[in-house]
Amino acid sequence: MIRALLFIFFASTTQGTFVVDEECLNYTIYPVQYELIISPYIYDDRAFYDCHITITVIANAPDIRMIELDARNMTISGESIKVYKGDRNIVNGPRPYVYDRSLGKLYIFLNEALIPYKGRHLQNYMIRMSFRKEVTYDSTGVFLVRYFDENHKLKYLMQTRLSPDKAKYFIPCFDNPQFESVFKITVYQMPPGSHVQYSNTSIVIAQELKGEQLTDNRIVIQYMPSPQVTLYQLGFHYSQFSKVHLSSKYTNDTLVLWAPTDEIKNCYFILRFGIAIIDIIHEYSSINRSLVIGPINVVGIPTYLNGYEIASWNLLSNNVIRVIYLPEFISVRQIEQMKFELAQQLSRIWLGNPGEEARTRWKQEWFKEGVATYLAYHFLAQYDYAEQHKKYQQSLYYYGIRMKQIAMSHDWHHSTPALINFNDELAVNIPHRYKELVTMKTASLLWMVENWLGSEKFHQALVKYINSRRGKFISLPDFMQSLDHDTVECFHQFFNGSTASKILNSWFRHSGYPVIDVYVMRDSSSNVIQLTQRRFSFTLENRQETDYLIPISYIVQNISNCYNCYRPRFTIGRQTYTFKENLNNGWIILNRHASGYYRVNYDETTWKLIAQTLKNDMSLIDELNRAQIVNDVFALYTSGDISQDLAQYVLDYLDQERSFLVWEAVISGYEMLRTDGAKCHMTKILYREWQSFLRMKVVPMYKILTNSIEQQRHIRYFRSKIIEFACTIKYEKCLNYANHLLKQWRNKNQRIDPDSRPACYYVTYDSSNGFSNTDVFNAFESEDKSYAEYLHRKESNFLVRIPIGEPRPQNISMSTTIKPEPLSTEKSALTDISKDKSHHIGSSMVILVLAVLSVNILR
Ligand SMILES: *[C@@H]1O[C@H](CO)[C@@H](O)[C@H](O)[C@H]1NC(C)=O
Ligand SMILES: *[C@@H]1O[C@H](CO)[C@@H](O)[C@H](O)[C@H]1NC(C)=O
Ligand SMILES: *[C@@H]1O[C@H](CO)[C@@H](O)[C@H](O)[C@H]1NC(C)=O
Ligand SMILES: *[C@@H]1O[C@H](CO)[C@@H](O)[C@H](O)[C@H]1NC(C)=O
Ligand SMILES: *[C@@H]1O[C@H](CO)[C@@H](O)[C@H](O)[C@H]1NC(C)=O
Ligand SMILES: *[C@@H]1O[C@H](CO)[C@@H](O)[C@H](O)[C@H]1NC(C)=O
Ligand SMILES: *[C@@H]1O[C@H](CO)[C@@H](O)[C@H](O)[C@H]1NC(C)=O
Ligand SMILES: *[C@@H]1O[C@H](CO)[C@@H](O)[C@H](O)[C@H]1NC(C)=O
Repeated sequence: MIRALLFIFFASTTQGTFVVDEECLNYTIYPVQYELIISPYIYDDRAFYDCHITITVIANAPDIRMIELDARNMTISGESIKVYKGDRNIVNGPRPYVYDRSLGKLYIFLNEALIPYKGRHLQNYMIRMSFRKEVTYDSTGVFLVRYFDENHKLKYLMQTRLSPDKAKYFIPCFDNPQFESVFKITVYQMPPGSHVQYSNTSIVIAQELKGEQLTDNRIVIQYMPSPQVTLYQLGFHYSQFSKVHLSSKYTNDTLVLWAPTDEIKNCYFILRFGIAIIDIIHEYSSINRSLVIGPINVVGIPTYLNGYEIASWNLLSNNVIRVIYLPEFISVRQIEQMKFELAQQLSRIWLGNPGEEARTRWKQEWFKEGVATYLAYHFLAQYDYAEQHKKYQQSLYYYGIRMKQIAMSHDWHHSTPALINFNDELAVNIPHRYKELVTMKTASLLWMVENWLGSEKFHQALVKYINSRRGKFISLPDFMQSLDHDTVECFHQFFNGSTASKILNSWFRHSGYPVIDVYVMRDSSSNVIQLTQRRFSFTLENRQETDYLIPISYIVQNISNCYNCYRPRFTIGRQTYTFKENLNNGWIILNRHASGYYRVNYDETTWKLIAQTLKNDMSLIDELNRAQIVNDVFALYTSGDISQDLAQYVLDYLDQERSFLVWEAVISGYEMLRTDGAKCHMTKILYREWQSFLRMKVVPMYKILTNSIEQQRHIRYFRSKIIEFACTIKYEKCLNYANHLLKQWRNKNQRIDPDSRPACYYVTYDSSNGFSNTDVFNAFESEDKSYAEYLHRKESNFLVRIPIGEPRPQNISMSTTIKPEPLSTEKSALTDISKDKSHHIGSSMVILVLAVLSVNILR
């Protein structure tokens, strides 16, 4: 009913349609439209804006004589407060209002009750007032940012970050995340010449309708009415920025990049990337439908900002280091992050946004977040594929393993919620600590199902579903039903009718993930294999048996024997599952392609067979499986499920390992060793033993990478990770290299190679000196510095908490013969470095002088 009424109401003001789920709204006053007239003033010592606001509301409860608004930290002009019914002001004369600053509440008293809407009678009211808002560098919601322009002059800009609930710091409003309103915005821009800073750029969540110059030279810009959005989707930017733009191949979609004028030339990388992703999205969706009506603005703000606001769709703001590409400062890891964040945001936009032609809404926004993350990686894989000519095929393997490892690192603690518990929580309200759980775990589970169904079938079903729900609601049950329907013909492949939805459901409903215990009975001629599952936990608790529906796929050593290796696959549930396979006394490895969201533990004989193959001819096990095995070994050692001897026996082959995927799994495995309360009872001595073991293993890879001048992105990423890893496990050659770079930086002001920065900063934190107060860092460097500090603090805190422990008896029974530690055999590494300096990382790229550094991004 409300829907119909509001639609009538809107027909005159906007082209929008009103489809909010009105049952969930329990309100007494509903804001239909906000009209804002904003005049910002930026002086050298002060900044504020004056604003006239008109809120059009309707009432849905009787006897409302008081209007309660949220308004924080602003100065409201008392005499301007009016509530109009038609052209009559109904504010109570003797006692018009109370503004409780400490509570942030404005109460307006009326001399007559509001008339609730009823039937076709729709009485609307206009609340009007003027207020002034002081804006400082650290004010909440709307804040000031300072930067240097191309003439090294200080400039200021105003920017909002209103999610999840900061809009009340920006304007007086009805702060309810369920309310959706239209925003009509007008901005007065200051002319050059006055005491006020000249500003020519204002960006809001709607397109410009018209601009006009007033007689006093101010420019007034009127924007079109926005679509219906919640308060946290509102945004405002005011500055002197410049822009560049590109349009998509297939539709009218346009990406506009905004940055300080002298940085704009550095925006082309992300601009081209963004448009490439938009083109990939259009190709993926196979129809030419614009993501958004009007342009998508991406604004680089020279201050620390934590990613894009997830609900933004046409005004996306982020830290300027996620927008500008300065080869001499940006590290490969920052490039990856920059690409991922934009790809993820564009995927969110594609999945549904207020600015699309017909709005698509998701009932479970956690699920949307997961799908957006999964698609982001999928699109990144397509992008790499186009760029690198088939290096990693089109699948997201390379990213899949990474996202799974991130998800698992969040997903073992007993307090971790199941995904389904996020229910219909708005994405902006999902607590920060669960952000990666929600995005990465959901994405990993989708990857598991993709592998189970087959990529093509899965993606076809996904695209078909999304396309068919344009302008409607998307919900998890509806999605599942449709997925099953479109993939049903693979039914017969399974031993027992597990469908995609049954599988996904069993994982969404439980927190954590399982470990499968594989036991091979080798006494009969054709071996019997027994699988049982239980919950994986690093600690003693929470190891109960579980009933995830686990899609099983496997490979065996003697491939020629394996009938089932090329066919999927079956699911196991709670009961122990046994099956026969002719192993010829070889191994079996579960979790083919490593896409299953679980770990696998084998009996000791099988582990040893696997270890032998890894040592003799690792190519018999593909790199994805090797990565999974290595990561599992670290996890199972930490959880006390396998012994240190066995773990190191399997990992012993690592000195021959050249795959980045596997080394990334090693690095993530090494982090697991620092799990608090883990059953392996880590001690300082044990930890040092592991470091020394890994030092021996990393040497060959380290040498290869640091001697290569290859600048291809994957190699750079690998190199950067390995250098950081080698330094954290205290490989002396790496420490010397880092110290050498630091010394050059200190003494000669030579820039540290960006890719080695985290390692150098880590080494600095680990040394007794640390950083001095006079050290200056730009935004790219500061980010790495905080990261290194965090890493170092986490590690040293852990080491403080654990006992020293006893050295193990020097009796290494397995094949691992302890070689002399490489660090003691290296002679002065400094001479080494100067000798092969020309080969060393980065020297071919950059060692720039500090003075050249553009300070614009300095905060
Ligand atoms: C709706 O609001 C009324 C009055 O404020 C309150 O008594 C009632 O519990 C609310 N209902 C829900 C479902 O929140
Ligand atoms: C509100 O303003 C006061 C002073 O005007 C300031 O001290 C306080 O930090 C501000 N609070 C927020 C949350 O911005
Ligand atoms: C705004 O003004 C600055 C400085 O005059 C200029 O560099 C920039 O290109 C202008 N921006 C726009 C959008 O016109
Ligand atoms: C693209 O824009 C042009 C002009 O603005 C308009 O006529 C056309 O319909 C648009 N096309 C699509 C697919 O939106
Ligand atoms: C999309 O647009 C491209 C180029 O304009 C055109 O070649 C293609 O056929 C269109 N695809 C569809 C599905 O309309
Ligand atoms: C693999 O299986 C085939 C057929 O059973 C057998 O002939 C062959 O010897 C086996 N190879 C190995 C290495 O066990
Ligand atoms: C499929 O079979 C396994 C093993 O027999 C069983 O545990 C599982 O529950 C079955 N799945 C379904 C959906 O029936
Ligand atoms: C060393 O290991 C071997 C093989 O496991 C064992 O037989 C022997 O007793 C061990 N020696 C000591 C001193 O622990």
